[in-house]
Order: sequence, then C-alpha cells, then structure tokens
Amino acid sequence: MAVAISQVSFEHHRVALGIGEASPRISWRFDGLAADWRQGGYSIELSRHKQNQTGLSQIELFHYNSSDSVLVPWPTVSLASAESATVRVRAYGEGDQPDTPWSEHVNVETGILNQDDWSGAQMISADKETEKNAPHQPLLFRKEFSVNSTSVEKARLYITAYGLYEAQINGKRVGTTVLAPGWQSYKHRLVYDTYDVTALLLAGDNVLGITVGEGWYAGRLGFGAGNRNIWGDTLGAIALLVITSNRKTQSVRTDKSWMASTGPIVTSEIYNGEVYDSRLEQTGWSAPGFLVPDTAKWIAVKELEAPYGILTAPDGPPIQRIEEIKLQEVLTSPTGKTILDFGQNFAGWLRLTVKGKIGETIKLVHTEVLEDGEVATRPLRNATQTDYLTLSGELQVWEPSFTYHGFRYVMVDGWPEDDTPLNNDSVSAIVIHSDMEETGSFECADELLNKLHKNVRWSMKSNFMSIPSDCPQRDERLGWTGDSLAFAPTANFLYDTSGFWRGWLKDLQSEQVEGVPPLVVPGVPATGPQIPTAIWGDALVANPFNAYHASGDLDALREQYTGAKAWLDDGIPRNGAGLWSRSNFQLGDWLDPKSPPDDPGRATTSSTYVADAYLVYVTGLVAEMASELGLGDDKTRFEKWAKDLKTAFREAWIDPEGIVANETQTGLALPLYFDIFESDAQAKEAASRLEKIIVDNEYLVGTGFSGTHLLGLALTKHNLTDTFYKMLGQTTVPSWLYQVEMGGTTTWERWDSLLPDGSLNPGEMLSFNHYSFGSVANWMHQVIGGLSPAKPGWKTARVSVEPGGNITWAKASYLSPYGKISTDWKVDDTGFHLVLEVPPNTDAEVVLPGEKRTLLVGSGSHRISDPTFHF
Ligand code: BGC
Repeated sequence: MAVAISQVSFEHHRVALGIGEASPRISWRFDGLAADWRQGGYSIELSRHKQNQTGLSQIELFHYNSSDSVLVPWPTVSLASAESATVRVRAYGEGDQPDTPWSEHVNVETGILNQDDWSGAQMISADKETEKNAPHQPLLFRKEFSVNSTSVEKARLYITAYGLYEAQINGKRVGTTVLAPGWQSYKHRLVYDTYDVTALLLAGDNVLGITVGEGWYAGRLGFGAGNRNIWGDTLGAIALLVITSNRKTQSVRTDKSWMASTGPIVTSEIYNGEVYDSRLEQTGWSAPGFLVPDTAKWIAVKELEAPYGILTAPDGPPIQRIEEIKLQEVLTSPTGKTILDFGQNFAGWLRLTVKGKIGETIKLVHTEVLEDGEVATRPLRNATQTDYLTLSGELQVWEPSFTYHGFRYVMVDGWPEDDTPLNNDSVSAIVIHSDMEETGSFECADELLNKLHKNVRWSMKSNFMSIPSDCPQRDERLGWTGDSLAFAPTANFLYDTSGFWRGWLKDLQSEQVEGVPPLVVPGVPATGPQIPTAIWGDALVANPFNAYHASGDLDALREQYTGAKAWLDDGIPRNGAGLWSRSNFQLGDWLDPKSPPDDPGRATTSSTYVADAYLVYVTGLVAEMASELGLGDDKTRFEKWAKDLKTAFREAWIDPEGIVANETQTGLALPLYFDIFESDAQAKEAASRLEKIIVDNEYLVGTGFSGTHLLGLALTKHNLTDTFYKMLGQTTVPSWLYQVEMGGTTTWERWDSLLPDGSLNPGEMLSFNHYSFGSVANWMHQVIGGLSPAKPGWKTARVSVEPGGNITWAKASYLSPYGKISTDWKVDDTGFHLVLEVPPNTDAEVVLPGEKRTLLVGSGSHRISDPTFHF
C-alpha cells in the first residue's frame, strides 16, 4: 500500500512565518496504511530565497540514511534574519518497502533574529501623562509613508506592544490574530509577530496604523482589587515594516515621526470589558488621505525604552477567532430582563450587526449561568465582563478588541429594537483561543460520557489562552501552575500543545527565584508572595516531562531541565528526612468534594502528605529526564534520591502493615500510582482498601485537584478498572456526570458549583469553566480509547483497551508526530474486536483485554480479535 508525506513542519509552528529558530528542525507526518513500513532514509530539498543577490533560488539536496522523521536537524547553513526557504521531503522505505513521493513544498521564514535587524525601531507612546490608577484608554498610532514602486514583491510587518495591539494598513486589518502578542512574563520575554502584508500595500501613499490596548501588560490583574500596571504603566508599540520591490528594501519603523491619538475605545479591560463610543471614531485614520481635522486630537509620540533584549519570536500559535456560535434563544427573565442564550459556555465575545439612534448605548453583561432565571454575576467576583457600545447611527458591525469574556448568557440592555430586531442576524458569538492543531478525538457508546468529553474540550479551549489559565470569567484567568499539571496529559492528546507549552514553560522557568516559581505564571503580585508549594511548583518537572512524552522533543526537555533540577535542589524547603518542611504552606488536594465552600484547601487528605507523595514522584521524573538527556551522573543521583525519599515517605506516612496515614481516595491513589508501597503485597492490599472506600462512598468522587487526575490511572494500574468505570458512570454529586446531568457544557471548578437544587454554591471558587477535573479524559483516552504513547513522541504507541461499564464500543484517534493512530473497537457475543490503524514509521504494543497478551504490530491497518473477552 502506498505511503505519502501528509505534512512537513518546522519546530512546532503551524505556520512557519517569522520563526525564531535559524536552524529549524524539520518533521513530517505520514499518510497511508502501508504495512510494517519503516523509513530507511530521507531526502530534503531546500531552496533558499536570497534577497539582494541574483534573486534566483539556490537549490540544495540532502540525503540521509536514517529512520528519523520527527524534528530532524536543519541540514545546512542557518537562515539569516528574515530569510526564507522552501523545503520538500521525500522518505525512502526500509528494504524493498516503497518510497514516498516528494511532499508538497512548504515555506519557512525567519523573523528578526538579531537586535540590529530591528533597524532602530523604537517603542513609542503618546507624549502625554499616562493613567495611573484607572484603566488606560487605548492609543492610536499613525504613520504615513510612500512606496516608490508599482510592484511590491514582498512586505513584512514585525510588531509587538506594551499592551495588546491591532495593526491596520490602508484601513485594512493586518492578519487575523486577536489579543496579540498574547501574554508572556513580559520582564523576560515579549513576543513579536510577523505578518505578510504584501497585498495590503499600494503604490504611492500608504498608512500604517496601530491601536494598543492595556491588555495584561498594564491592565488590572489578580483577585480582589488586583494590581494594575504590573509590567509598566505606559502603553507602547514597536513595529518595523520591510518592503521589498525591485530587489531593494525600504523600511518604515516606529520612531518620533509618528503621531498618536485616541479613538472610539474608551476603555478595554481584560476583566471588565470594553466601553466603545462609536461617535469617537476617526473614520479613515489608518488610510491615506485622512486629513487631521482637529489637530488637538493628534499629538506627538515619545520613545520608551526599547525591549530589544527580550523581543522573541513566538513558540506557540497566536490567539485566533476560532468559530462563531449562533444565538440559541432570547429569554425574558422573571424581572423582565432580556437574556441571550448561546447554549454553550466558552471564552470570547459577541459580534453585533446593529443600527440604532446615534448616542444610544447597548449594555452587555456576560455570565456563565443563570440563577433564578437572572444572570448570575456573583461567580465573576470583582470582574464585570460588561461591554458598552454607544451607537453611531449607521449600520455597524462591532466586536470588542482588547478584552474577552467567559460566558454562555448575555443580559442585553438598551437594544435599539425599533431599528434592529434582536435575533440571529444581529447577534452571534465568537469563540477565541490559542490556535493549536486539534489532534485527539474520542467517542463511545455512552452518550453522557461523550458529552463529558465535549465539555472537557470546551474547558480546554476556554483556558488555553496564550497561557494555561484557570478560568476565563472572573477576576483571575491566571496561569495557575498546579491546574496545568493536572490537565496537561489530557491537553496533550486533544491538541498539539508542543509550541504552546514551549513558550509558557520558558516563562515558568524564567520566573523561578532560587528554584521557586510563582503560583501563577506569568507571576501576578495579587496572588501573594512567591512561595514553594507542591503540585503547583511540581509543574516545573511534570509539565516538561509530559510535553516530551507527547512530542518527543528532546531539545525542549533540555531547555527545561535546569529549572526542574533547581526546583528539587534549591526550591523545596525540606525537613531532616528530605521531605517537605512541615511548616510549609501547601494547597494540597485543593477543592476535594468535602472542602467547605469557604475553605477550598481544607481537604480530607493532609496537604503535607500529598506534597510528600508528589515529591517522590517528581524526583523520579527528574531522574528519567536526566536519563533521556544522557546525563548519567544526574540520573544516578536523582534515582538514589527518589529511592531515599520513598523510604522516608514510608517512615513518615505508612505503618509496617502498609496502612497509610490518610486512608482516603487521594491518600491511597497517590502512593499506588507512584509505586511507593514497600511490596506488591502491600500495594495489593492498599488497592483493595481503596476499592472499599470507593464502594462505601457509593462510587462517588472523593478527590480534589491533586488526586483526581491520577485516581483512575491508579485503579487501572492495580486491576481495578471496573471500579473506576462505576465511578465514571455516577450521576449524583460529586461525580463527573453530575455536571453533565445538571446541564453543564464545560467542566466546573467545584464538583458542586451548581447545587442539586439548581442554586449556586455559596463559595468563592465558583467557576463553571475550570479544566482540572476534566483531567479524567486522560483515563478515557488511555483505557476506553486505548491510546497512549509508549515511547516519547508516539514512536511506539501503547494500545490497551479495557472495556467496561456499559460501553460496548469506542473510537479514538490521535494525530501523532508520525501520522494518525486510531482505534475502533466493539464487544459482542464473539468477544472483543479491534480495528487499529498505526501510522508509518511507528509501531504499537497492543495489550489484549481478555488474555492480557501483548502483541507488537507495525504500521498499517490491523483487525485484532480476542474471543476470550466477555463482559
Ligand atoms: C484558582 C485555582 C488555583 C487555586 C489555588 C484558585 O483561585 O482558580 O484554579 O489552582 O486558586 O490557590
């Protein structure tokens, strides 16, 4: 059967324009079901497009005898700044296996790799006093220039901001990215973006316009009153436009020659929404021919300190408008309010197409849920997520620019009903998130589980917003590290998260102080001092490790190794036995179902116990990292340390009979999953006790953030998969399907964010869009779908379906770095039947459910049956 290359990519970029790697590693995915196909070698054809020389491409061809097809080294001289090349790849089958045809040609182009190549562009701001204790009004920047050629061959805009930017050329929006450049630890890293703007330029007069809003950079962040201006109190923009025509380049850069003004956006805050007054629009401000009618509106600019040292090309995908959701229903509340229902909780904003009287103002209050038929604003705490649009009097299409909301419902006030009916034509909703490639799918015979899985995906989409955030609606939306640790393995299956993590993990590491990271990354002062805590700090180890398992990217693992090691060597305050210092604050098994509404950390399992168990685990992971990186001495040191810590844990927390200090679901699941028990016999007994606790609890959940993502895996590891199926099937509180039965369209922060009587939990941790408890989908992918990586990057997959519950069939697929792997199984009277598709150049270890026999299969389509299996 034929085999082909379906996709060639560079590093982890979906679109390799403006990348930061001068020698980008190249990967290719395969298509086709060739049986047992292995790559014996490959060729790379590379055409470089040198500017300013002959204009001709120089074609180079490279051949390798190698089976590598993921992240192979760049074969030749590194690219210079802004240099592009076209690459195609061909792979050769091992032995007499067929070869692939040449792949498509794929472009790669670097961004600005050296400070000097910014050609002296400056960070500019309006020459006026900045707001100090109030939201910043977004600024407009404008520059007129002329292009002296009728044929622009190529034009690139390199741009970023102190704040969030949106650029326009000649009145047209540049690119489709929103909330650019996203959120980074701006002290260490400020991402600039690269756009191909060739088609936007005109011969003769042109205008480059930039709007900058406060965003995360200078906005209010953190709960309560929060803090403003965390990275700076002055909005700014830096941009370089490089235009090539007739083999000559012309550049336009931000400098003192620009003008600044303000426009219709009065304020646009991450938490509080946007105030937009259409009467303040300056029509045509970013196009040529705009005469400044009121010179007082346009003022000079000043130069701020340029951030050259920290400017960096993106690692992960930008935030994009991903889809549009139709209005489902217009409701009238008991008190007569008009409420729009979009049928889905998500992150984004509204798009209005509206005409009314000039000066009329529409007010839009966004909430996740209703309480007594009215919009419930209490879960938003100190965020209002309210937009105000004052109308122009003309038909207008409006979306906010520098804010986003987590919502399903919108209360609308002041809608101009006489002029525009409020319906599907006038209102829709825009979903935004980091534009990662969707890689994982899952479906099974149980509709409730399918709905849960959809909800898990929605909570991921709502919170992968340049950083992994806790929630998209209230006065937080912060990069809580512990939440990301719990959810990362699930995320890594659902989407290609490799670039996303690579960027955020750089920030996590760069914010470490003496080994200790902040609880949220980027660090935000309102969350308190930078203190060490387990699980949250352990993300320094577990997240890079999990990312490596999904992507196979050893370089990314290497980038993270120093931070992981520093966490163990310097960050963790220890007692005499090397375990966590007993006086240290811990968040522990945050929000277990018994934690009181006003004390989310008061869990049934001791937080120090939980911390110590994770310490054993992450020390072992650092040993594994060292081993993968070929660091023999470190491997030996951390292996020994992990062993000693296991002994110390047993001495501190497990009695000679194997009874642990906290015989709870989390208390048993952790040492079982982390292999801490002294003997298999003790582990077996502990597993039966865990089962009994679960049975006595009527199969309801007893775990919080730290235990939930591992409970199913621990049970399956100890042959108690059926017990977990029963838990997963429960529909009363606390359980996963309770949320589904209560109408949830995302996963909730608390097991009972909505109480059984439909009222809201009285606590403060009341988000309806938190991904942590959705981490159960990892178990669903591995055990129901049967898919997980056995070797980093899925070079070898583990296929181990364990049918159970009332589930008679399931399908799962994962678009791995090599190509798509999929399972499709059913159980009937004749046993278990699996159709497995394995991508070329990989293999799979298949564990049969009945006999527990393991087969090793190569690429291709396999029909595997196990007649010994019956429910
Ligand atoms: C966040 C959590 C976080 C926790 C820890 C909450 O406010 O929403 O997800 O991990 O605080 O303190």
